[in-house]
Amino acid sequence: MPLPKAELHLHIEGTLEPELAFELAARNGVTLPYASVDELRAAQAFEDLQSFLDLYYACMAVLRTERDFEDLADAYLRRAAAQGVRHAEIFFDPQAHLARGVEMGTVVEGLGRALAASEENHGVSTRLIMCFLRDESAGSAMETLELARPYLDRITGIGLDSAEVGHPPVKFREVYEAAAALGLRRVAHAGEEGPASYVTEALDVLGVERVDHGLRCMEDPALVERLVRERIPLTLCPLSNVRLRAVDVLEDHPLPAMMEAGLLCTVNSDDPAYFGGYAGDNFDAVRDRLGLDEDRLRELARNSFLASFLEDDEERRARYLAEVEAYEFPRR
Ligand code: ADE
Ligand code: ZN
Repeated sequence: MPLPKAELHLHIEGTLEPELAFELAARNGVTLPYASVDELRAAQAFEDLQSFLDLYYACMAVLRTERDFEDLADAYLRRAAAQGVRHAEIFFDPQAHLARGVEMGTVVEGLGRALAASEENHGVSTRLIMCFLRDESAGSAMETLELARPYLDRITGIGLDSAEVGHPPVKFREVYEAAAALGLRRVAHAGEEGPASYVTEALDVLGVERVDHGLRCMEDPALVERLVRERIPLTLCPLSNVRLRAVDVLEDHPLPAMMEAGLLCTVNSDDPAYFGGYAGDNFDAVRDRLGLDEDRLRELARNSFLASFLEDDEERRARYLAEVEAYEFPRR
């Protein structure tokens, strides 16, 4: 039995495995720019965030109907459950679908169907977080928030993703204020490729409650001290950082130093179909290659539930936390 954990940094479009991409391409009469699953996998040798994003957006062309989004999310939840995920807070990128003529309702209703059945089918509770693409305009983000209004009963919060450098958090001040006024929780990618100052700005200007990645906070000791003091969770994605070259090799990842510094770290998969592993695979990798011991692994699992947006269901959070404390690691 795997260690129980919450996944807090997961782009549902990044769970599109090549096999499912070809299946949906055939179902929808869409042609992918690759001849086979193997060719598509071979294209997953990334140089940086942008080279990944180019492939990520290209593959989304196969997602057209409610059923496609439902099948995508259901396949993810099945895999996540098998790796010990008990709770998943799932990002989606509506602007990437709107741009292709796929409506907000198609995306949210489709994802929503899989999420509504997830506890019964997979034993995984869920939340949905709508991300804005930071390389699109602030106006487009505001329009997207407007389009989401009929679906806010199914959306817990907002996030900010896509190409980071040159698109600082301050660009999205107004839309984050509007989302806060609607009672939405706020997170943002910051300090993945962008500088530590973007992390500070996400906290000060956007009022984020968690920072996605936040890796580069380590370049600013005063920021680290603040993140520790304010107990701001970071949703780290170690395998993603290797594949997108934020670190050269996993052995160079600052996770152990970040935990040592007292940061509230969590380990997540980001885009598992592209980066070589789901949540449990990321936990296994940091155990095997960063030498994290059982106490540290249990701390990461505990942190994942502490950082979850479960304020509307504290009983559930307490149950998950008790599962973490009671977990017995297998003898290896
Ligand atoms: N969209 C999907 N994955 C992302 C990542 N790791 N960073 C920024 N935007 C993303
Ligand atoms: Zn991400």
